[in-house]
Amino acid sequence: MHPAAPSPAPRGLHRLAYGGDYNPEQWPEEVWSEDVALMREAGVTMVSVGIFSWARLEPRDGEYDFGWLDRILAMLHEAGIRVDLATPTVVPPAWFYRAHPEALPVSREGVRWEFGSRGAICHSSPAYQEAAARITRALAERYAGHPALAMWHVHNEYGVPVLECYCETSAAHFRRWLHARHGTLDRLNEAWGTAFWGQAYGDWEEIQPPRLTPTTANPAQRLDFARFADDSALENFRRERDLLHALSPGVPVTTNFMVSPTQCDTIDYWKWGREVDIVTNDHYLVAEDDRNHVNLSMAADLTRSVAGGRPWLLLEHSTSGVNWQPRGIAKRPGEMARNSLAHVARGSEGAMFFQWRASRAGAEKFHSAMLPHAGTDSRIWREVTELGRGLEALAPVRGTRTVADAAVVWDWESWWAQKLEWRPSEDLDARERAEAHYAALFDRHLTVDFVHPEGDLTGYPLVVVPALYLATAAAGANLRAFAEAGGTVVVSYFSGIVDAYDAVHPGPHPGVLRELLGLTVEEFQPLRSGESVRLTGPDGAELTADTWAETVTARGAEPVWLYADGPAAGRPAITRHRLGEGTAWYVSARLGTSGLDTVLAAASADAGLPGRDHLPHDLELVRRSGERGEYLFAINHADTDAKIPLPAPGTELLTGETTGGPLVVPAGAVRVVALEH
Ligand code: GLA
Repeated sequence: MHPAAPSPAPRGLHRLAYGGDYNPEQWPEEVWSEDVALMREAGVTMVSVGIFSWARLEPRDGEYDFGWLDRILAMLHEAGIRVDLATPTVVPPAWFYRAHPEALPVSREGVRWEFGSRGAICHSSPAYQEAAARITRALAERYAGHPALAMWHVHNEYGVPVLECYCETSAAHFRRWLHARHGTLDRLNEAWGTAFWGQAYGDWEEIQPPRLTPTTANPAQRLDFARFADDSALENFRRERDLLHALSPGVPVTTNFMVSPTQCDTIDYWKWGREVDIVTNDHYLVAEDDRNHVNLSMAADLTRSVAGGRPWLLLEHSTSGVNWQPRGIAKRPGEMARNSLAHVARGSEGAMFFQWRASRAGAEKFHSAMLPHAGTDSRIWREVTELGRGLEALAPVRGTRTVADAAVVWDWESWWAQKLEWRPSEDLDARERAEAHYAALFDRHLTVDFVHPEGDLTGYPLVVVPALYLATAAAGANLRAFAEAGGTVVVSYFSGIVDAYDAVHPGPHPGVLRELLGLTVEEFQPLRSGESVRLTGPDGAELTADTWAETVTARGAEPVWLYADGPAAGRPAITRHRLGEGTAWYVSARLGTSGLDTVLAAASADAGLPGRDHLPHDLELVRRSGERGEYLFAINHADTDAKIPLPAPGTELLTGETTGGPLVVPAGAVRVVALEH
């Protein structure tokens, strides 16, 4: 976090945040008073204003129009609604691009994107940087002391829709970045393995971004370019943040993340999480996925982890369907509240939406909103007002922290590396493995923190490593020290293979994880599409796997499951290695749901984790705890009522009922119990 960081909570907000993106510039001013009155009716406490307003705020170069923003901020303030005020730097105006067409980004194929949607930015462009600094300064100078100002919202979702730019300005910037990272050309040539295919560089000026090449480009060059692109956006964020800190001291600065790898995969949020005063996130369901609440929980846990366990804020989700998925599946009654409160259970200090009022025009008019086209006589509006009342009742949870049972290792850099071309199987999918392991833990009713591979693992009984293709020696040592000190680790296949530049670690696979796991992998055995293999285990039990197998030699590890058939028949498939005080499991094949559950049950037993088999399926149970109290969130995603034991009597905050015995959570409902101690 920034050294002079303001306190990590929206200033002047004493309730949970509830509201959404508010775009008053899309509406005639007559509508604004109705907006504000309805916001009050819905229990809105904060709105995000001005995210796409640059053209309205600076209609011509250097000519500002703040009158409309003054008026709406005054109205919001009078209504007691706090404002998350944006710098509009995600969409520079048309006049800017006319003067600076070079600030439009260029694709890998060499095509320049045009103005007419949003987010068309070359992050290396000096003209963009100067213009962004000017509008940020103008806003900060005018509104720093505004009584409605709760926090600053820089830009919008860095990383999408386009991050990488391959223009000449970016190329020169990339070379400067490489120089700072590698120091000498010799080191760069070594790191990139340029001896292969005769790619050695003799002069910095010879190096280009990894533009379109006849066949696969140097993987280390691509990986460094992905890092560079991420850093170039981060430099621009820092520039705006530092200006805001200087001109508007004490007001927290955020930028809305999209940590879910289903939505944005170009940003290393471990890095960005340290740069913002408050971590905020946008999350949208994968609407057609039957169990999309699991993906939601994963995103929320990942966001909390990126925030270092501190409270964070859900800045956008949807009241119902969205316009940008193949089918804008509407949420079922009660689903919006379950979604919102699941984020709160996992650490969010509120629930905000895109957007307040559904637009009439433009690309997003078929996106749901808090105030839909149908108006207030609608299911969505009734649920929005009900949720507003619910969040008011949940104010006591503010400042408490979600309690986790286990950790999952996740690394964006490793994922970037694994996704490059020419891997042993195109079916290898790091995100799929992370999601599958997360779902298996969710189904065992375990709450998960995510951890960087070199991060602090102290205190977790169980650490799961679903896919860590790129792993540094420090990551390997970290996991080994954790196990030796008594922890239990589960590692899935194709992990520990390469270093930070995509070069295979010396010696047999799995490189830096060999000692932890007590085994070597002689050969990868990717399976044919549709092929599966059988595994036999303790007492003759059977599991099946597909996609991937390996020829494993145990060197200290105990083979627990063996391949019964397939290319590695007779060899160890799942192993368990005792080292120091702890245990490390290795899974060398792609297991399905029940196989993963079997392994995680055994590892959980090693880790001494409580069995929660008595809890109903799809009953999400999460605890937030702090000095002022302890809160149990029970979210019933199933269509039958659930009954669960309570560790202590307490008061249910949404209904106000006191409860001592088992808690009934009706089908589709949420209950939040303030436990007595
Ligand atoms: C993103 C953006 C919003 C809006 C929503 C639609 O999260 O930040 O401006 O486009 O998606 O779902």
